Amino acid sequence: MKTYTFLALAGLTTLATATPISPSRTQPLQARQGNGTATAPCAKVSQYMYGDGTTVVKQQIPADIAWACLSDVPFNASSAKALIKSIRPYMDWQSTIDVLKNPPAEYVEKVQPAIDIIGGLDKIDADIDAGSFKNEYDFGWNLYTLIQSAHDGHFAYIPDSVGAIFTWGRPVPLVSVSEDGSKLPAVFTFDDVLGMQFKNISYTPSAVVKIDGTEITEYMENLSQYGSLQDRDALYNNLFYELAQVSLGISGSGTGMFSGGGRGRYVYPGVSTTLKFANGSEYTMQNYARTTISFRNMATGEDLAAKWFSWGTGEAQAQAESETPETISIADTDAAGAAAPGYPAPVVAGPQNLINGFYVDAPGYEDVAVLQVPNFVGSTAAEVPFQRLTRDFIPKALADGKTKLIIDLQANGGGTILQGYDMFKQLFPELDPYGANRYRATEAADLIGQSYSAYASQFERVSSVNSTVLQAQASYFDYHNDMTVDEKPFSSWEEKFGPQEANGDKYTTLNRWNLSDVHISYSSGGINITGYGPLANVTGPAKFKPENIVIVTDGYCASTCTIFSELMTQQAGVKTIAMGGRSNKNKIQAIGGVKGVNNYQFGYIQQLAQYAIRYTPSLNTSILKTDYYSDLPYNRATISPGVNVRDGLRQNDTSGVALQFKYEEANCRLYYTPEMTVDITSLWKAAADAQWGNSGKCVSGGNYGQKREAHEVTANLRPRRIQVSQATALKKVQAFENSFSLETECKMTGDGFMHP
Ligand SMILES: *[C@@H]1O[C@H](CO)[C@@H](O)[C@H](O)[C@H]1NC(C)=O
Ligand SMILES: *[C@@H]1O[C@H](CO)[C@@H](O)[C@H](O)[C@H]1NC(C)=O
Ligand SMILES: *[C@@H]1O[C@H](CO)[C@@H](O)[C@H](O)[C@H]1NC(C)=O
Ligand SMILES: *[C@@H]1O[C@H](CO)[C@@H](O)[C@H](O)[C@H]1NC(C)=O
Ligand SMILES: *[C@@H]1O[C@H](CO)[C@@H](O)[C@H](O)[C@H]1NC(C)=O
Ligand SMILES: *[C@@H]1O[C@H](CO)[C@@H](O)[C@H](O)[C@H]1NC(C)=O
Ligand SMILES: *[C@@H]1O[C@H](CO)[C@@H](O)[C@H](O)[C@H]1NC(C)=O
Ligand SMILES: *[C@@H]1O[C@H](CO)[C@@H](O)[C@H](O)[C@H]1NC(C)=O
Ligand SMILES: *[C@@H]1O[C@H](CO)[C@@H](O)[C@H](O)[C@H]1NC(C)=O
Ligand SMILES: *[C@@H]1O[C@H](CO)[C@@H](O)[C@H](O)[C@H]1NC(C)=O
Ligand SMILES: *[C@@H]1O[C@H](CO)[C@@H](O)[C@H](O)[C@H]1NC(C)=O
Repeated sequence: MKTYTFLALAGLTTLATATPISPSRTQPLQARQGNGTATAPCAKVSQYMYGDGTTVVKQQIPADIAWACLSDVPFNASSAKALIKSIRPYMDWQSTIDVLKNPPAEYVEKVQPAIDIIGGLDKIDADIDAGSFKNEYDFGWNLYTLIQSAHDGHFAYIPDSVGAIFTWGRPVPLVSVSEDGSKLPAVFTFDDVLGMQFKNISYTPSAVVKIDGTEITEYMENLSQYGSLQDRDALYNNLFYELAQVSLGISGSGTGMFSGGGRGRYVYPGVSTTLKFANGSEYTMQNYARTTISFRNMATGEDLAAKWFSWGTGEAQAQAESETPETISIADTDAAGAAAPGYPAPVVAGPQNLINGFYVDAPGYEDVAVLQVPNFVGSTAAEVPFQRLTRDFIPKALADGKTKLIIDLQANGGGTILQGYDMFKQLFPELDPYGANRYRATEAADLIGQSYSAYASQFERVSSVNSTVLQAQASYFDYHNDMTVDEKPFSSWEEKFGPQEANGDKYTTLNRWNLSDVHISYSSGGINITGYGPLANVTGPAKFKPENIVIVTDGYCASTCTIFSELMTQQAGVKTIAMGGRSNKNKIQAIGGVKGVNNYQFGYIQQLAQYAIRYTPSLNTSILKTDYYSDLPYNRATISPGVNVRDGLRQNDTSGVALQFKYEEANCRLYYTPEMTVDITSLWKAAADAQWGNSGKCVSGGNYGQKREAHEVTANLRPRRIQVSQATALKKVQAFENSFSLETECKMTGDGFMHP
């Protein structure tokens, strides 16, 4: 097989410097620690990282060296048994756990297959007993992929072996683009697209047709299935470099799953990856692992486990925490005010690039404003400024003569639930958001509800209560919180609990948020809700008519993003445009992420159970005592594990089917073009054309503009004239590539947020 120095040919410094592993990576390792050549698997990692022991620490390691070390950690069967036992109680809280075994036929046909999570845990238990796991990672990966195969971004358990020691990456990000917006999209390296647009590379960029010998679409569709989204076109998009994800810095999925962003960081990519291009040439890249932990004085998998795995007691973790961890430098891309690469300067800037207001600065688009919302906030400090952005931007846009509004929700994994309601009310003050939801009616939920309701009812429901009373009164488990679907108070916990039966499972009575509630700004992280309570004075007609608004997504719309889009599309009648998707001409969905409307971290559930016992001591003999006191699930997890606790239900829908299982096509589909991967304005123009222009072209199913057949696949990209604004955008993209570490530790929280 011929390999060539792709990087040199591409001639772009970006990739060379973004390449994490030095060119000497394929040379035999030198023994430089004075102990002779390291042979034990983890000693090789240690040696690679610390070299001659000077201050330079390499945190990116050839993938195969890391893999050998990780594979050397022996399986601890007793800890694995205890872990499976300790996470089972939390599975009961997953609102879809029963439906996942037997979902509606259309979901199975078009979205994802059925999955029996509890059966899968039983199987893992049996495999532990049978001695089937060859090492600790083998067990961890099985557990991880079992939960991940639910394709619910709120539902995740990432064991230590899968995410806490190494994460993985490939040095070359890819894009999937249609040359002209009509031809079927093909996969290119992102740097080819950059070079093509600079018109200064010495070759014609050619599409990737095979990866490691497998046909490109088969390879990519398989890899995409390791993502957290449910929709297959959205999963496919998430493999690639995309400006909206990049704009989120470390809280997005980086340069795409293929290069190790988002859930891609948990999938071992092999020692190398070989791309074959349509023009016949090939390129092999060396893959890498990242680590943020110390490997000093480590030789074997046992050494690694002793230091970094907390099998049960928590002692190992305590020891590790007492040491200074290696720190990885991460580009501070989410600092307020720093324009994201590929984006123009905002007209009104929001906090941390989580929301910005733009105009489309191009002839013919003078009437178009863009509210770009790649997140719904997960940090308290940003809540008030986030809400204020819409409040400031909408009247300004109207005053500046804008009559059309694009709401760009690309990359939006959610955030604060009530920000979704608030934004809807800012746009449509006269509409009453529905948003009904339910929990699984479990014994634990019932006991907690009885205890919380009894405790919280002792105190007057006023804003002046202390924090202990507030956390009880503002929780779902005080029946005074929330209201019925008919906007009436619940009369008792028994009424709120139900249970109601639907499609074979038992659920609590449907409830809705009481947006006027005295504790609403606690539940919202600090804002009052537009149109309610202190802001009840905000009334009047819609600021933009529904037909003058369009929602644009890349399918990566999850959690609070789906709450908002459900209200916008169902209640206000706003249309959607879905970008990208697999290389076909089919209609695709706009909303491809979890449509559950609230996630709980295991830790919050544990707190509920323990507080319920505090409020009602006689519960100390109940399952709340036996099931929710082990810390093992946290000690053995990479990031806080979580479940989706609330199903979202549609207004006037009597089927009892949660939104999560409904398949819905977007009103219009557009392919990404090369320009759109470096200049977001070109995407907004295409969206405006599709929705309002005469020249717009939806790939399929569009009710607007002209339809065009798209048969031909893009094989090579023809260099075109570069626009001035694009050149500026490109420079920023390059600067970002140089600084971006691909590390996507998620810093966002929020009660309706999906981890990337
Ligand atoms: C192409 O132009 C860009 C921007 O000026 C520059 O960074 C890059 O090095 C150039 N590439 C080649 C092959 O000349
Ligand atoms: C395996 O895990 C148990 C806890 O379940 C722990 O006591 C034991 O030390 C671990 N074994 C090894 C070899 O670390
Ligand atoms: C073939 O395409 C690849 C990928 O665009 C490119 O790097 C290479 O230079 C091309 N080879 C020739 C001979 O044009
Ligand atoms: C991807 O392909 C491999 C190899 O054929 C297979 O083992 C694996 O199950 C596939 N993964 C998914 C998510 O389809
Ligand atoms: C060998 O390596 C270990 C761990 O790095 C170190 O503690 C020890 O001092 C070394 N021995 C020699 C002879 O250098
Ligand atoms: C809050 O008020 C309740 C009821 O008066 C009381 O029992 C509790 O101790 C108070 N908690 C704090 C932290 O002050
Ligand atoms: C909503 O909360 C407000 C303020 O606490 C309260 O007056 C109202 O009765 C509640 N509405 C319902 C339906 O419970
Ligand atoms: C929300 O309303 C309350 C009651 O009027 C007020 O004290 C608080 O400052 C308001 N919050 C914000 C962020 O405006
Ligand atoms: C509504 O009332 C708030 C104070 O509660 C005030 O800040 C705001 O300007 C008012 N808005 C309108 C539209 O009257
Ligand atoms: C549900 O039905 C009511 C009453 O007919 C109607 O006002 C409302 O718009 C409907 N909602 C949706 C989402 O169709
Ligand atoms: C449970 O709480 C009761 C008081 O309600 C106490 O008498 C009893 O000893 C406790 N039992 C346990 C097992 O903690």
